[in-house]
Amino acid sequence: MREAMATAVVGDDGYSEDPTINELERRFAELVGKEEALFVVSGVMANQIALRVLAQPGDVIVAGRSQHLVSFEMGAAARNSSVQFATVDDASGTLALADVLELIDAEGDHQPHVSMVTVENTHMLSGGTPWDVDDLRRLAGAIGERSLHLDGARLFNAVVATGTSAAEYSAPATTVMTCLSKGLCAPVGSLLAGPAALMDRARVERKRLGGAMRQAGFLAAAGLVALDTMVERLNDDHVRARQLGELFAAAFPESNYDATTCRTNIVSFNHPQARQIVEELSQLGVDGGTVAPKRARFVTHAGVSDDDVDYVADVLARFVPSKR
Ligand SMILES: Cc1ncc(COP(=O)(O)O)c(C=O)c1O
Repeated sequence: MREAMATAVVGDDGYSEDPTINELERRFAELVGKEEALFVVSGVMANQIALRVLAQPGDVIVAGRSQHLVSFEMGAAARNSSVQFATVDDASGTLALADVLELIDAEGDHQPHVSMVTVENTHMLSGGTPWDVDDLRRLAGAIGERSLHLDGARLFNAVVATGTSAAEYSAPATTVMTCLSKGLCAPVGSLLAGPAALMDRARVERKRLGGAMRQAGFLAAAGLVALDTMVERLNDDHVRARQLGELFAAAFPESNYDATTCRTNIVSFNHPQARQIVEELSQLGVDGGTVAPKRARFVTHAGVSDDDVDYVADVLARFVPSKR
């Protein structure tokens, strides 16, 4: 990846003249079956641009309560797009169709216009849960003319876990984004794809958000290596996450964590002492985090090896949270 970055052919992306960025955008658009794609610096920027092109100020966006767009983007949707969310339960990782339709139906009761629905695949907070593509198709079919945005920060984890292709997952969605960083190992970069007319507007919105780039083809070169060589590798992360899930389930039975729910690269469980456990395990060399006050999260990636899993097993075999 470093070599590809060092030798990348670059140009001025402000004029769409960076051949490496153009190639990355073309490749992603092809992979997800959309007309065009746009390279942006981060997943948040991809999501925020999607809102800017799919919703109007004052609109309501239906989303899962714990989706990244709702809970982890620092209120960016309100700040950047003057939209509000109407949220539904997404503890299982997916949205119940009846819940979504009820919110849309409320338009008939003097409530604001619902312009779009967003889903997350895989769904981070529930533990990297992949969507069943038939559920996505049903959802898209039921919301009619409204747009569907797919936050696929970990789309390729879902692809590898389910065998559903990126194009199949993206077909029901108006726009789809993915992150080249995270499991795909690029140092920076995300992509947003959709119909050409929307992507023209997305390019303008990227500039408005300060995200226009120039000779950034060396970053796109890393992205191409990510798409070419890092997708199949995700299965190793999934196998190790399941092993870790079983270790955590055994170490903290009071969490009632069911490791069979770990289908991709995220182990996430509720525990009354989640913050303390994360802090004390970190001191022992097992790094995780919390994603809600009583919810711990441990993620596998290319930097986590089988030896590391054995190390975690050793630590957890001896671990008891201190009395505080
Ligand atoms: C589901 C989801 N969407 C979007 C993002 C944002 O990506 P970035 O950190 O590149 O802005 C993340 C980041 O963790 C994520 O988990």
